[in-house]
Amino acid sequence: LTDGPLKGRHILITSGPTHEPIDPVRYIANRSSGQQGAAIAEALAGQGAQITFITGPATAPRPKGVNVIEVETAAQMLAATEAALPADAAIFAAAVADYRVEEASAQKIKKSGAEAPEIRLTQNPDILKTISNHAQRPKLVIGFAAETNDVQAHAKTKLDKKGCDWILANDVSPSTGIMGGAENQITRITRDGTDPWPRMTKRQTAQRIATLVAEALA
Ligand code: C5P
Repeated sequence: LTDGPLKGRHILITSGPTHEPIDPVRYIANRSSGQQGAAIAEALAGQGAQITFITGPATAPRPKGVNVIEVETAAQMLAATEAALPADAAIFAAAVADYRVEEASAQKIKKSGAEAPEIRLTQNPDILKTISNHAQRPKLVIGFAAETNDVQAHAKTKLDKKGCDWILANDVSPSTGIMGGAENQITRITRDGTDPWPRMTKRQTAQRIATLVAEALA
């Protein structure tokens, strides 16, 4: 492990999309690449932290020098996250599917001449909320808010609803090119106020997060 201000700290990070199966060959997914989560993991490892990196099936390369746990679904991500506690901080960068298919088919769904099949959805567990209210809650819990409108208002509501310490909000409207792109533009929302950051690369964003996490845990 690298020497640095976060030496001896254990930090948990979720990253990437989740895949929620419909049948053995089909799933519901989203456009999260996992780039921001991987960059945060490397930045924190660079400051000496021991990282547990829990990732869904992301396209971004896995971060180096960290403990990587691969999962597919939101349910698996929650189980892996709880199993990784205790931690000093937890950063929830994953784009977790809000819903999963209530009863995924054990066999491939066939095309039939009759009506189109209906897929019934059911709510997934909220990992950020669960860990924010956990008996082993990390000292610092950070959530992301990917929004396409009223970004700050939604993020403020989210801070209270989830019970986390910071929300890092970003506008993922297609015109921003943020989701899946190399840059990010974050507004950090805490109970003390709102701190808009300039647009920068996801790597630079990760460095800024790592510096603030080190300060918060010092
Ligand atoms: O509610 P919303 O999905 O907008 O909240 C986003 C934040 O909550 C992110 O930090 C995301 O990782 C986390 N989240 C979660 N489990 C869910 C849904 C979101 O951990 N089921």
